[in-house]
Amino acid sequence: MSGYTPELKELLKKVEASRPARVERARKNQHFPALTMEQRKEWLSKYHPDYKSEGRRAVKVGPNKGETFPDEVVNLLESRSRINPKNIDLSKIDYETDVLVIGAGGAGTAAALIAQENGLKVIVATKLRHGDSNTVMAEGGIQGADQEGDSPYYHFIDAMGGGHFSNQPDLVAALTNDAPLVLHWLESLGLMFDKYPDGRMLARHGGGTCRRRMHSAGDMTGAEIMRVVRDEARNRTEDIKVLEFSPAVELLLDTSASGGGRCAGAILYNLETKEYYIVRAKAVVMATGGFGRLHIQGFPTTNHYGATADGIVMAYRAGVKLKDLDSTQYHPTGAVYPEQNVGLLITEKVRGLGSQLINIDGEEFCFPLEPRDVESSCIIRECLDKGKGIMTPVGRVGVWLDSPMIEALHGEGTVRKELPAKYIQFKRYGIDISKEPMLVYPTLHYQNGGLMINANGETTVPGLYSAGEVTGGVHGRNRLMGNSLLDILVFGRRSGLNAAEYIKAGVKGSRGQGVKLTLEHVEKFEKELKAAGVKEPVIGPMILPEYTPDHVKARRWGQSA
Ligand code: FUM
Repeated sequence: MSGYTPELKELLKKVEASRPARVERARKNQHFPALTMEQRKEWLSKYHPDYKSEGRRAVKVGPNKGETFPDEVVNLLESRSRINPKNIDLSKIDYETDVLVIGAGGAGTAAALIAQENGLKVIVATKLRHGDSNTVMAEGGIQGADQEGDSPYYHFIDAMGGGHFSNQPDLVAALTNDAPLVLHWLESLGLMFDKYPDGRMLARHGGGTCRRRMHSAGDMTGAEIMRVVRDEARNRTEDIKVLEFSPAVELLLDTSASGGGRCAGAILYNLETKEYYIVRAKAVVMATGGFGRLHIQGFPTTNHYGATADGIVMAYRAGVKLKDLDSTQYHPTGAVYPEQNVGLLITEKVRGLGSQLINIDGEEFCFPLEPRDVESSCIIRECLDKGKGIMTPVGRVGVWLDSPMIEALHGEGTVRKELPAKYIQFKRYGIDISKEPMLVYPTLHYQNGGLMINANGETTVPGLYSAGEVTGGVHGRNRLMGNSLLDILVFGRRSGLNAAEYIKAGVKGSRGQGVKLTLEHVEKFEKELKAAGVKEPVIGPMILPEYTPDHVKARRWGQSA
């Protein structure tokens, strides 16, 4: 029995009627024309949520003072600490280690592995459980130029183009040059990549790529990556200690004469015992992930429950500069039906396999593999400007993503084979996506910007390294599919390695002698807030998102014109 209502079933008939001709054209490689550069610019400025002037304001304090970010981000950048520094006795150290990694997704775990391989003791502190992160939610794939006819050079150009050339080139060079090495590393850890029967790696296109370089493990690539790196970390428990349900709430700086303000640890909050713990470390890696759970502009999100921008808040107070944090990625295809699936990621792989986006009249209205910001703008335009979206029973709007085309183009059974998770996630609500399309609309997917780093993963505070979604610069103002799973591993590994080099070189007392741990930066920040007249600041880091009825009601779910 279909999970669609009779009204939606009636509308579906138009999609079915136009499908045979569309499949025929797709077989002949005749696609809906991609937008010109001028059209892209126009569509983005008119329809992409980043280009709206409302819902954003200038931050009044800190290293990026005067720059404009979404209100939800500014609220946290201007937040007050969870702790009163005067009540914390920094002479009582609960844990001592070489490297403290904050965050236990793919980036944090990769950093821990490489630091350990370089002879160091590591503590990984995580808010939830080891692996609870956006990494495990990632579906479609990881990019890497390992196929004949491809090279890191083409990958570099694609990533820069996707980011509208606003990316930091040294970071993109690191990303794309390390990619084949990372694929090889993952295989050596036991990752089960999709392959051809003869053992060659299977690679597909993603939006904005000029070569097929998307490597996958079904539609659970992130979960498979997390499986192998977590297993590896768990096999090294002598050197890698994981503290679960222990989010960091403040960084600690070493203000001794030799420390010079370098990062030397953090305060953790035990969510179960409600106690604070002090961790002293010779170097710290910040890998807390993104901000999807801030629901910027009221959008639903694909992100995991802990994606609340905690790392940004702590590092900003400690003086780290931010880059491109005004830029948010809305994945073009988030589910809008059934209600239980709202915001759920419908992987780009669905379009990579040939599915088209279809309006209420059964017509294609855009090239399905534009870069994500452009694709999202096309969908928003079709729904909110052209009025050609499809309304769900509760009043959400979306367009069809014609997944049955995959079966028509690649043969029966392809959907279940290539998209097993997606198949189950809809089948449980009576929708068979190999026979019926999905209803989709953009959903908040990725924090494009974040902490400023260099290609070694160093932030602007000595001793503080960072990797993954919490950082900015790698993807510029728009990330391409598959470059996030790559980013977390490339920069996780680089952060782990460079933190180890920094410690081994004994840079500025990093061996731990004569350290003076302080929270002076937190006190200074509080004074700045007062001086700037910030009224009733919220408490940050947020740690867990707000889902009280009032908060939910206040959200517009991104569908206001
Ligand atoms: O569409 C996707 O599978 C998402 C991948 C990504 O964000 O890299």
